[in-house]
Amino acid sequence: MFRPRPDVHPPTVEVFVEGAPLRVPAGASAAAAVLLAGLFRIRETPVSGAPRLPYCMMGVCFDCLAEIDGVANRQACVVPVAPGMRIRVQHGARVALDGGAG
Ligand code: FES
Repeated sequence: MFRPRPDVHPPTVEVFVEGAPLRVPAGASAAAAVLLAGLFRIRETPVSGAPRLPYCMMGVCFDCLAEIDGVANRQACVVPVAPGMRIRVQHGARVALDGGAG
């Protein structure tokens, strides 16, 4: 359905998803980078630890909360990638603005 055109090469940036380098189209969201990386989760729920992936991709469902550049609880679907960005899976509940409570 959505095939890339072989004659079009959009600019890309390098980000790190769970420590692994990945080139993604400039302007893509951090959540899109996680999906491109093929991860099976971007966060785990605080109560049961169930894995979650981005769902709505428009800032509504909060299933894309992730640790981005060391800051927890970022809505990855509304954060555009930047060169060198580090995106990590968020495990359980985190305290906002302190980088994580453990
Ligand atoms: S995927 Fe729903 S808020 Fe980000």
